[in-house]
Amino acid sequence: MSIRLPRLVGSIVEAALTPHPVDSYLELVDPSLTWRDVRATVVSVNRPTERTVRLALRPTRQWKGHQAGQYLQLSVVIDGVRHSRCYSPANSSAGAWSPIELTITAHDDGFVSTYLRDNAREGMVLGVSQAQGGFVLPAALESAVFISGGSGITPVLSMMRTLISRKFTGPITFLHYARTPADVSYRAELAALAADHTGGRRDGAANIDLRLYYTRGDDENPGRHFSAAHLDGIDGFAGADLFVCGPPALMDAVNAHVTDAGLTNPVHSEAFVAAVPVEVDPDEPITGELTFTRAGRNADNDGRTILDQAESAGLAPASGCRMGICFSCTAVKKSGCTRNVVTGELNTEADAQIQICVNAPVGDVELDL
Ligand code: FES
Repeated sequence: MSIRLPRLVGSIVEAALTPHPVDSYLELVDPSLTWRDVRATVVSVNRPTERTVRLALRPTRQWKGHQAGQYLQLSVVIDGVRHSRCYSPANSSAGAWSPIELTITAHDDGFVSTYLRDNAREGMVLGVSQAQGGFVLPAALESAVFISGGSGITPVLSMMRTLISRKFTGPITFLHYARTPADVSYRAELAALAADHTGGRRDGAANIDLRLYYTRGDDENPGRHFSAAHLDGIDGFAGADLFVCGPPALMDAVNAHVTDAGLTNPVHSEAFVAAVPVEVDPDEPITGELTFTRAGRNADNDGRTILDQAESAGLAPASGCRMGICFSCTAVKKSGCTRNVVTGELNTEADAQIQICVNAPVGDVELDL
């Protein structure tokens, strides 16, 4: 699967992620004091499921707000190193002001998510980028079908809450896939919305069709992954836009169904997933040496990405998503050839800005790190 994220403009994102020098000094006085950067104070913390932590954040005045469905870069300093990750606010982007609401799922190999699940507390100050991304509600909408899996619930919940804030009157269907009922981080909130939102219907009937499916079965109930039947009987389906966010398998299943069934509904989707790396000839020899000029260190090229090799050499370069999305790992390659492990593209340009998390050296490479 390829990255379905919108292409970001590197310089803009880089500018948004790099702490401004003035702000670096202000941070020493008071972490929430900033001139240009956005920071946010954690005003409440709760842990709705075993694996998730929900943060309400009060941002500094530089925050420009988000459009429902967009994401931001949250950064936190852990052991002296700033780490950034992408999260989508789940709160409505319309109506009265509300804190930024992030629900973060701790994955087994999720260093930042696990740290926040275990250590987030009220009063903590975190770095926040401006919101980004083109996964947003269209200007005109007749009816909406939201399909999410796991932590993909947050951007589509923000969209649904926004429609409710705007008093949207069309039918809304919300399908969500989780491992088990205990893994649905917004179970009570979804039930309340589904019970209360009438969309202005005269008969007072609920206007949200909530459908929850659990992928981990047991002896009596087999796990239920997306199937075409889950879209049966949806009110207003013919005129609906589909909004999909979740793991690759869910997104592929929905896209395959749309194609196979010849559906003409507009499909909007977003996934924070790494693209499948291009295959490299396993017989190709791995040669060369990496030179980290600022650190004054060298390492034999072992074929992994520059970020991995820099960390193994004892460096701690800035990084975020580690999959070529956020640009927080961008560094200057002074000389040599690198291969983008996602696209296979070779870069022989001197003094080029590269994302070191998705570039591996091909022979000798000198880096300004
Ligand atoms: S860490 Fe996000 S692009 Fe490299």
